[in-house]
Amino acid sequence: MERNLILAFESSCDETSVSVVENGSKILSNIVATQIKSHQRFGGVVPEVASRHHIEQITDCIDLAMSKAGVGYSDLNAVAVTYGPGLVGALLIGVTAAKTVAYAHHLPLIPVNHMAGHIYAARYVKPIEFPSLALLVSGGHTELVYLAAPGKFEIIGETRDDAAGEAYDKIGRVLGINYPAGKEVDRLAHLGKDTFNFPRAMDDSESFDFSFSGLKSAFINTVHHADQIGETLNREDLAASFQAAVVDVLADKTVRALDAYPQVKQLILAGGVAANQGLRERLTAELQAFDSVEFVKAPLKLCGDNAAMIGAEAYVEYQQQHFGKLDLNADPSLEF
Ligand code: KG4
Ligand code: ZN
Repeated sequence: MERNLILAFESSCDETSVSVVENGSKILSNIVATQIKSHQRFGGVVPEVASRHHIEQITDCIDLAMSKAGVGYSDLNAVAVTYGPGLVGALLIGVTAAKTVAYAHHLPLIPVNHMAGHIYAARYVKPIEFPSLALLVSGGHTELVYLAAPGKFEIIGETRDDAAGEAYDKIGRVLGINYPAGKEVDRLAHLGKDTFNFPRAMDDSESFDFSFSGLKSAFINTVHHADQIGETLNREDLAASFQAAVVDVLADKTVRALDAYPQVKQLILAGGVAANQGLRERLTAELQAFDSVEFVKAPLKLCGDNAAMIGAEAYVEYQQQHFGKLDLNADPSLEF
């Protein structure tokens, strides 16, 4: 097979990342410069701060990605970039950098949807088979996506309000946990018990849509009420109860979707919240009942935002000759 090398960019939120990917399946380098520390004191990502960090970091990330991969610009076949969804100012830095490299080195430009990229993080575990289903859970999105064929994505269910990761971050703040709180809430949850019986919104509905804002409010109200009456609640049990409610709904809907789409060959779990141990364990157990469905979890290191996942998806677009022009713009609310 001919060697295909793609230089991929990701800058949709608070990670500046540049990667060199071979044949959409091998990471030669994946530089991720995180800005989390700069946003922590604000309790979430500040778009203006994010854009400034991306500008400061991006050229170093390119140099590092190229030198670590041990390749030169003349070895590259294409440049790929996340052009949405995400923060417009943040996206624009990656898009501008990618266009500049593409123009300067006469390389084709491949626009990549960030969410499609998250799904393709799973490509580093196994080739993706079709049709498949992806549970995509991140800080900004919670979606069940049907993959009919390479490059064909259809959302069959999505959150009607908060994303799962957003709910983790917001309840984490109430527990005094720094942004992003998901990992620490997950850790606490494993030390506690589900004693609060928080609501499982839309769990009984036929639709594959989700809702997490009621759960978030129930959690926050419980903690505030306890504060008012001078009662201290067990943090581990609070975390365990919250996580049990999130995982129940995510797992139940996913199982129902697998029942409704029996032709599906793989279940792909991807996005920042896919790193959640409770969710990974629960879905592993549920998948025992589906002999013909393979469970493919994005590698832990590639669940969060990174450019290697963008390079993997870009390879599919490359094969289909889906190239962008140099007037490519960022699209903050890009859909599949
Ligand atoms: O995909 P991602 O890196 O960024 C977006 O595209 O949104 O996802 C970040 C989200 C944050 O909300 C973070 O709290 C959450 O993923 N997260 C987790 C865990 N690790 C990260 N949520 C639950 N459990 C985890 N272990
Ligand atoms: Zn993301």
